[in-house]
Amino acid sequence: MGIFSNIITIDGPAGSGKSSAARLLAKTLGYLYLDTGALYRAVGWTALKEHSNVQDEAALKALCAKLDLTVKPDGDGMRVYVNGQDITGEIRTPEVSRAAAAVAVVPAVRQRLLGIQREIGKKAGAQRGVVVEGRDIGTVVFPDAPIKFFLEALPEVRVQRRHLELRQQGLTVDLSSTRQEIDTRDLKDSSREISPLKPAADATRIDSTALTLEGVVSTMVRAIEQKRSGSAG
Ligand code: DC
Repeated sequence: MGIFSNIITIDGPAGSGKSSAARLLAKTLGYLYLDTGALYRAVGWTALKEHSNVQDEAALKALCAKLDLTVKPDGDGMRVYVNGQDITGEIRTPEVSRAAAAVAVVPAVRQRLLGIQREIGKKAGAQRGVVVEGRDIGTVVFPDAPIKFFLEALPEVRVQRRHLELRQQGLTVDLSSTRQEIDTRDLKDSSREISPLKPAADATRIDSTALTLEGVVSTMVRAIEQKRSGSAG
């Protein structure tokens, strides 16, 4: 078995349901869960905290050179630490979402996080398997992973989901600003030059618009079983 054989990748836009699906799939398979968006959020959070300009490439390069970023499994999810400080809760605000999307277009940031993602993913894959979710996991971070998914959903459904998620976190945001946040991030994520959001050629595409979370995950489990029985026989 190769080092990538226990890595499952899930990519997709904000609100496609990939985080919930990745978490539940990891739990179902007994795998670890790696949310790579949280790493971009951690860089965005650090830039805001240090009052760095999130568009200043040199400042972000310097920030990344000294970035002490670690993650730890936590139940079905994971916790994120910068310089040992647990920032898991703080990286979910709209302000950090915007900063994360801005730093994600900077090559030095992507390069630094590429190394971190591969290190965590390979270690976890070698131990017990890992479900890695993000935007470029099947295309750039783990292009050799044997099982890849790309989750999609109609934009309006993604807006509703994101809005609900923010409200559940106790944040008061109106629907139109959530719609604007999703539109802006979609455009940034899919139009950036490096690692734009796009499905890997060998990814299984799932439209989650009319599916429940359990429906998405059982579709994934069936696809994994099919792939594995196909490659075993
Ligand atoms: O999935 P998320 O909303 O937590 O991601 C935050 C930002 O990070 C998002 O704007 C896209 C970026 N991102 C990325 O460019 N590549 C990844 N693999 C994961 C996230």
